[in-house]
Amino acid sequence: MTLRARLSKDAAALALGADAVAAALRDGAKTAGVRLELTRTGSRGMFWLEPLLELETRFGWVSYGPMRAGDVASVLAAARDGKPHALAHGPVEEIAFFKQQTRLTFARCGAIDPDSLDAYRQAGGLAGLKRALETGPAAILEEVTASGLRGRGGAGFPAGIKWRGAADAKAEQKYIVCNADEGDSGTYADRMLMEGDPFLLIEGMAIAGIATGATYGYVYIRSEYPHAIETMTKAVKTARESGLLGSKVLGSNHAFDLEIRSGAGAYVCGEETALLDSIEGKRGLVRAKPPLPVHKGLFGAPTVINNVLTLAAVPTILEKGAKFYADFGMGKSRGTMPIQLAGDIKFGGLFESAFGMTLGELVDGIGGGTRSGRAVRAVQVGGPLGAYFPRALFDTPFDYEAFTAKGGLIGHGGIVVFNDSVDMAAQARFAMEFCAEESCGKCTPCRIGSTRGQELVDRIMGTGDAGANIALLRELCDIMKSGSLCALGGFVPYPVLSALDHFPQDFVRR
Ligand SMILES: Cc1cc2nc3c(=O)[nH]c(=O)nc-3n(C[C@H](O)[C@H](O)[C@H](O)COP(=O)(O)O)c2cc1C
Ligand code: SF4
Repeated sequence: MTLRARLSKDAAALALGADAVAAALRDGAKTAGVRLELTRTGSRGMFWLEPLLELETRFGWVSYGPMRAGDVASVLAAARDGKPHALAHGPVEEIAFFKQQTRLTFARCGAIDPDSLDAYRQAGGLAGLKRALETGPAAILEEVTASGLRGRGGAGFPAGIKWRGAADAKAEQKYIVCNADEGDSGTYADRMLMEGDPFLLIEGMAIAGIATGATYGYVYIRSEYPHAIETMTKAVKTARESGLLGSKVLGSNHAFDLEIRSGAGAYVCGEETALLDSIEGKRGLVRAKPPLPVHKGLFGAPTVINNVLTLAAVPTILEKGAKFYADFGMGKSRGTMPIQLAGDIKFGGLFESAFGMTLGELVDGIGGGTRSGRAVRAVQVGGPLGAYFPRALFDTPFDYEAFTAKGGLIGHGGIVVFNDSVDMAAQARFAMEFCAEESCGKCTPCRIGSTRGQELVDRIMGTGDAGANIALLRELCDIMKSGSLCALGGFVPYPVLSALDHFPQDFVRR
């Protein structure tokens, strides 16, 4: 008898003991005289259930979690006898958190062996690239533009327009750079995708290369992601050996190859031009724009820089058509967004959904409120440069323009939940401190302003005229917004001003 099983080897599952569960599973199968066919997958994105084990039983696939090695024997017995178990959740697809999603980008993540190109193909992979090769660059550009796909890294810039800029640039060499620096607090979708479905990203980059005439690419992955680096490196090697990458992509006349580069831990190296400096072997310093990277980017050549999720959305768009993708979402936010729930939240994890759900639906409904049981007081959306939203703004739909209208940003889709013990003055100070720590130092409002900002919060909370110092802090925020060279100094006013505006009572001396 063969027992088929799936268990995540995503970094989050490993941190929670997935390897010990795998070892216990092998022992348990041996004892029971059963042949174990264990597939180590990426994560399904429900972190409160990790390590999540899926077993094929007489009644179909059943999921169990959070597993500990000590649970394996009883879980195996329950699965064999078709009996209930306290850790059983039925088929993954029926778990409410999973069922309510629209999984386009993450359709395969957690379901297949990320190291197997065959598994990727069998699960529908490469259909987008094949169609791209059939239709050619002009049609790809049209399709991506018509899909309404916008950059998922933070700025929300239309991918089709960026690609067209690079396609129109005349140069011997052009590049595709994938931004996998994922520095935002509470975000992990890039990591999950690279660990769970790496060929999807490679396919998306190859399509971008064909569309723009770029023949070489780089994936810049933060050094804190050793598992993603390992999985991607393996996948690139397999892709090259199988003819997915190389001088003839899938046997066509298009060449595309890529390599993995690792960052050294600076938040600012997620900013596209600092990232280019870092790949070039320099210290990551933000470059003034223009010239835009699509005209003069990596090593001075036209370069498309896109986030992991932007590039990973492309194969679906090519396979199913622009209309299919654009039919999801609201307003100018088309398609789906992998939303990442983090902080004090009961059901923390990745929730891919069409744009348009409200913040309240996501935090209270999908996320189930706080894990601690305390009241939700604030959420920070969009990373360390994102605004803090109070409950009063929970009717805001997840949409680029709706968030901008409320003084916020959706950034890379991270939502960090804070309970009623949060001190918003401390959070405002932290934003300035983070900026001072991570500033590349090129421009004065950010380099000097971030330190002055910390001092002002200290003065507001300490001695001196609180009112006058609040006015000064607001003025400083205005200067940083309008005078900074990049969004690090330019956006740090968002968390500071939102804390002042929505939680003024926290800026009163205690
Ligand atoms: C300080 C700073 C950090 C950033 N970090 C990231 C990051 O970690 N990942 C990312 O994709 N974009 C990051 N960005 C945005 C990039 O500059 C750029 O807009 C993005 O890579 C473009 O890809 P997209 O159009 O697909 O979003 C950052 C921007 C700034 C100003
Ligand atoms: S805003 Fe900060 S990080 Fe950006 S260029 Fe200026 S000093 Fe560098």
